[in-house]
Amino acid sequence: MSAGRDAGDLVVPRSVAVIMDGNGRWAKRAGLERIRGHERGIDAVRTTVTECARLGVEALTLYAFSEENWQRPRREIDLLFKLLQRFLIEERPTLMQNRVRLVHAGRRDRLAPAVLALLDETIAVTAGNDGMVLCLAISYGGRQELVDAVRALARRVAAGELRPDAIDEAAIHGALYQPSLPDPDLLIRTAGERRISNFLLWQVSYAEIHVCDACWPEFGAEHLRAAFRDYGNRVRKFGKVL
Ligand code: FPP
Repeated sequence: MSAGRDAGDLVVPRSVAVIMDGNGRWAKRAGLERIRGHERGIDAVRTTVTECARLGVEALTLYAFSEENWQRPRREIDLLFKLLQRFLIEERPTLMQNRVRLVHAGRRDRLAPAVLALLDETIAVTAGNDGMVLCLAISYGGRQELVDAVRALARRVAAGELRPDAIDEAAIHGALYQPSLPDPDLLIRTAGERRISNFLLWQVSYAEIHVCDACWPEFGAEHLRAAFRDYGNRVRKFGKVL
């Protein structure tokens, strides 16, 4: 079964998701503060976004801040959101040049008003772009997303708009944060870890998983190409017999 779009020697997945891990480890190894790893991580975000857009990926979802990340020290949380705000301002021209449309997946209630305002503004400014969709998962958890979807469906049942036995996979999918995005074909995780970490639990059902040993600040175009080459060698059967 074909894995995706062909770009030269590469099979390009339609939808890619990335667990950007190892910022802290990279910094520690370099004798730097953890936050320096997050700072360098922005360079890897820029490279990954522009390369994916250039290669023709339709949707890229980046795990920028998980629900569990709220348990980190306040100083690190504040610095991460400062970096995110800086990214939303400084990378806007890059997003526009590459015709990238930004969307958000996650809970909004714990995000500071200034972060929400910048996020919404960037989403609005890029809304007309017809290239790749960049989904930033911020204050995101896969279980929390399913809880929110179930609550939304339950409200529709209580309002008499939906029969309980009409709840099927499509109804659940339709109640997720970004229902119009294609499910990831490829999930990349850096820093050698082999965990899903509460990321896109519903959507990764049939994703191919590529683990990259490099830490996120080291992740570059060559690592992305290696991930796509690995993906191109997979046989995707979706439970069927070929
Ligand atoms: C994991 O490294 C990374 C994060 C928790 C945050 C990722 C954030 C960025 C790359 C910067 C901001 C992102 C955007 C999209 C602007 P870790 O701290 O868990 O590393 P460790 O496991 O080595 O400690």
